[in-house]
Order: sequence, then C-alpha cells, then structure tokens
Amino acid sequence: MTAWIARPGAPLRGRLRVPGDKSVSHRAIMLGALAEGVTRVRGFLEGEDTRATARVFERLGVRIETPDASERIVRGVGLRGLRPPAAPLDCGNAGTGMRLLAGVLAAQPFDSVLIGDASLSRRPMGRVIDPLSRMGALIEAEPGGLPPLRIRGGRALRGIEYATPVASAQVKSALLLAGLYAQGETVVREPHPTRDYTERMLAAFGWPIEFAPGFARIAGGHRLRATEVDVPADFSSAAFFLVAGSVIPGSDLTLEAVGMNPRRTGLLDVLRAMGADIEQTNRREQGGEPVADLVVRHAPLHGIEVPVDRVPDMIDEFPALFVAAACAEGVTVVRGAAELRVKESDRIAVMAEGLRALGCEVEEAPDGARIVGTPLRGGAVHSRGDHRIAMSFAIAAQRAAAPVRIDDVDNVATSFPGFDELARRAGLALEPAL
Ligand code: S3P
Repeated sequence: MTAWIARPGAPLRGRLRVPGDKSVSHRAIMLGALAEGVTRVRGFLEGEDTRATARVFERLGVRIETPDASERIVRGVGLRGLRPPAAPLDCGNAGTGMRLLAGVLAAQPFDSVLIGDASLSRRPMGRVIDPLSRMGALIEAEPGGLPPLRIRGGRALRGIEYATPVASAQVKSALLLAGLYAQGETVVREPHPTRDYTERMLAAFGWPIEFAPGFARIAGGHRLRATEVDVPADFSSAAFFLVAGSVIPGSDLTLEAVGMNPRRTGLLDVLRAMGADIEQTNRREQGGEPVADLVVRHAPLHGIEVPVDRVPDMIDEFPALFVAAACAEGVTVVRGAAELRVKESDRIAVMAEGLRALGCEVEEAPDGARIVGTPLRGGAVHSRGDHRIAMSFAIAAQRAAAPVRIDDVDNVATSFPGFDELARRAGLALEPAL
C-alpha cells in the first residue's frame, strides 16, 4: 500500500487542467457501446473506475480503441448487440459503473454477474435492485443487497413510474438505461434534482427524452445514434484545488475548462459563503455542458451551516469541504448528508478520524458533522482506501505545523490519476513515503 508524506509547500500559482469528468466518461462508454455507429470520446478520464467500465463493455463484445490516453473510440453494437460475457464482470471500485450496468444488463437476453473490489462489495445495491425488479428484472444479491449482483437475462421489462427515496443520479440512470429496453414509459422523480448527464447524453445520442430538474421520462423502442462526446474537466477533481487555493496563503491559481453543471457546483457556492475568492471566467459551452475557467485566490474562510438543500449538489465534495472547515475560523455544520456513510468509505467517520488525528475538534452526527476550525498539527491519517479522502488530507497537510503521513493512497488513481504530480507542479509539497 502506497503512502504520501505531505507538508506545507509553496503558494499555488499558474494554470492547470484537471482530468475529465468521471460521471460523463462512464456514460460516454455506455451509450457509445449501445449506439449504432462509432462514438469518439475526447477528454476521457483515464482513471481506474472508467477503465473498468470500458473493460466490462469489451467483455460484452464491444470494440474500444485508445488512440491516446484521453481519447476513446467506441464501436457501438446497438441496443441488442451485446454478447454474453464468459466470466463475472469486474466494476472495480466504481459504484456508478455497477449501478448503471445493472440497468443495462437486467434487460439483456443473457445472464451476467457484476463484481467489485472490497469497498464496492460493501455498498448498497438494493436501491437499484428494488426498482429494477418492479420493472420485471431478476437480480440476486448478497444479504443486505450487497454485490456481487447475479442478473438473470431474458426478462421482458416494462416501464414504471418511480419516486427515488434518496436523491441519486446512479439510481435514476440505472432506471433510464433499463427504460431504453422497456415496454412503455419509464418516469423517474427525485426528492432533490441530481446530475442529469444521462438525460443530456441520451438526448445527444438521439433518444427522445423529456427531462427537467428532478424529473425524467423516456419510452423504449428507439435507437441510439453514435456521436462525439467532449468530456469537461471534473469539478470534483478541481474541488481539491479550490480548497487548496483558498486556504494556502499567497495562492492565485487558474483551473481550466471545469465542468459547471449546476448539479455539481454546490461546493463553489458554499466556499464563497465561507469567504472564498473564486472567480468564474471564460464561461462557455463544451459538448452541451457549461464549462468555465475558475480563478482561486487565497482568502480567510469562516465556518457556516451548509444549507441542507445544497447537499446533493456537492455530494462528492464533502471530504474537501471538511478540510476547508478545519482551516476556517469558527464552526461549520453539515447535516442531511447521511449518504456520505455509503460512499467509497464512510466519509463522515473517516474524515472525522483523520481530522482529529491532526488536532481538529469534530463531532459526528448520523447525517453530518460539526467541525471546529483549528490550527492543524502533523501526524498520520488513513484514507481507508478512499481516493477523495487521500487527496483531501494532502490539502489539509498544507496548513499543518508538521508533516502528515497519508496511508493507502493507491485509490487516487480511480478518479484522479497523476494528482500528486499535478499538485506538485502547482506548489503542493507531496512525496511518496518510503
Ligand atoms: C454519480 C452519482 C453520485 C456520486 C458519484 C457519481 C454518477 O452518486 O456520488 O460519485 O455518476 O451518477 P449517487 O447517485 O449515489 O448519489
């Protein structure tokens, strides 16, 4: 298991571009595979999660070429062209991969099995199994609705109207993908709007779809037509640098072409409410998604109560927010975020454990935490195999009085390969531990 030693480095300066969006990259492979024709994906995230999804489709008989690391050419086989896999399909660490694939595979004429790594094998799948079963799917899981998922093929699916109990783009997307194959209409309503990449991309691939925040409706019986997908830079990866630039004195850093889908940018508003100086410039459209260059300059932060209704718009950014809160003056309160407990790790518990090790006062709640801003000391923290936690502590260390050892950082490659190198180039002091 690899570890990092992180310590205060230089102010962050210059311009950098973080890798492509993970959510968009997964979907581009999936829809490209199910489309008729050849889809070119530019700006693809060459991370472990998205590569796992590409590998799964290769095992299902789809040819995918890699002309260079950030590009994929997907030779679509059409909705009915997937072939039975010879072995279980490994989604690695990716919840998005497994949940969306469950929707696709439930509608195939053949049986399949979805497996994942130790972390994914602890994540709840009942949230997709239940509604897919209502559509007529047959999926068996381990007790508690855990992977592996054994999916029985040859089932005729029918559309349903479903109100998701938790706001989850993965659940919504699984149902919409199954809905491509279903008889009649599939309608999904959400308690809070979530990222709408599946809906936007289905439309871009020519599938008729009606959608609005918190609502989507499609019917089966159409075709997906190959297209070009331009993947924006991942806001969730930019988030670490937004926090780093805010908390490291003297920083003035530009992040280029960051995806600004409003269902992703909750952290931007929350950091600004904490006093951050982040400017949006050069706002434009790229491949049907809003993107902008973000300029972040150091500014003193103060604690706030994170508005509960913004939680889903920043669901992946809480580890980074916890670090901002630890570096802020005063108290930050997070509530309504119980979903954090079923991400790649229990992000409330693991962040609390690490921040406490650095001298920060953190009180846990079942659905959030109360964090008291404190000067941080050095020490040792553990990512518990969670990529976003490893990167968050690399940022926290920039404000610590002594070096911080971060254990188990291999998983960073799932969403942000090359993070350490890019971070060093921007000014962070971050080295592999011996
Ligand atoms: C994702 C949806 C979110 C998010 C995940 C990616 C997606 O999960 O946390 O990193 O691509 O649809 P939930 O749907 O479980 O909230």
